[in-house]
Amino acid sequence: MTTRRPQTPRRVKPVGSGRFAVGPALRTRIVGTGSYAPPTVLTNRDLERMVDTSDAWILERTGIRERRIAGHDEAASDLAREAARHALRMADVRPKELDLILVATSTPDMVFPSTACVLQKMLGAKQAAAFDLSAACSGFLYGLAVADQFLRCGTYKKVLLVGSEIFSRIVDWQDRATCVLFGDGAGAVVLQAERGRRGLLSTHLHSDGNQGHLLYVPAGGSRIPATPKSLEEGLHFVKMKGNETFRVAVRALEAVVTETLQNHGLPPSAIDLLIPHQANFRIIRAMAERLGLPMDRVVVNLDRYGNTSAASIPMALDEAVRDGRVQAGHLILFEAFGGGLTWASALYRW
Ligand code: UT7
Repeated sequence: MTTRRPQTPRRVKPVGSGRFAVGPALRTRIVGTGSYAPPTVLTNRDLERMVDTSDAWILERTGIRERRIAGHDEAASDLAREAARHALRMADVRPKELDLILVATSTPDMVFPSTACVLQKMLGAKQAAAFDLSAACSGFLYGLAVADQFLRCGTYKKVLLVGSEIFSRIVDWQDRATCVLFGDGAGAVVLQAERGRRGLLSTHLHSDGNQGHLLYVPAGGSRIPATPKSLEEGLHFVKMKGNETFRVAVRALEAVVTETLQNHGLPPSAIDLLIPHQANFRIIRAMAERLGLPMDRVVVNLDRYGNTSAASIPMALDEAVRDGRVQAGHLILFEAFGGGLTWASALYRW
């Protein structure tokens, strides 16, 4: 039998002191953005001819004027490819340099292979690992958090993150409560880690599966596979208890935004730009009011695209980057809420 002498704890130098002083933090940086919306426009007036609704109702209750609809031959990967190409061009990164492709989507091309693998093939990104991520409308921010871990650990150097959705394929075009809300599109970012004070400062993710029934697609998975009966009952379409979802969303977003700011000891006035998920203008305005932010510091594009789920934040970001609203040094707050339920935020110094 051997007895071990109790070890004397070694003295550890406090981080940041003396010879081993740490440099600026390694942060995930967005080095390119891109987006794509299919050209076909479906206006509120068009919807008036399809279901019992009105332009006035849709505009007043949601803020949406029109949305884009993908062509019959287009899948989520096709939209993703266009957004990705723009982002890669801005980043001056070639597909072969990518280490990881992440696609956040609730409307993948098929059950498997993942849309990320389809995109990898399309781009010729031979070195990249690729997988999809399912967090509904919060998918982009969940994806940002996942990519951030890989980048700051040094596992990967260059990551392509895309949110791509074709909700027009999963909404019931006879259900006025949902079909007026959603649109198709894709947004992408190229990410890499760099030292400095600019970049992703934090991400905050939350879920509550107990409330999953508020917003979901019942069939098409292993619980209710596709059968003539499931199709007849419309179980492959989005179901949403809109009003309840609205109330939970406002409370959850308020909490996650407070958590984010408190985490950094920042007042709401420190935020230069709010880039929210684009579900409903009333939710966006409520959040801006709670933060005391004037609407000219909030990026809104749902009037033109509707709710594009996981694509909404990267599409809005790309628009704001390209039209100059995003400036170097800006503190940007992202927030999202969606099926799961899931909700999330991210704070970013541009
Ligand atoms: O992105 C993921 C997260 N999603 C969200 O955060 C969405 C949250 N929810 C919402 O945005 C809103 O709840 C909706 C826009 C979906 C609905 O707005 P609302 O003000 O909550 O309306 P409501 O569901 O309470 O419905 C009010 C009335 C109802 O009629 P009655 O019962 O009062 O006679 C609905 O049947 O409006 C009726 N309605 C419509 N009327 C005309 C529902 N949809 C329509 C429609 N056109 N498209």
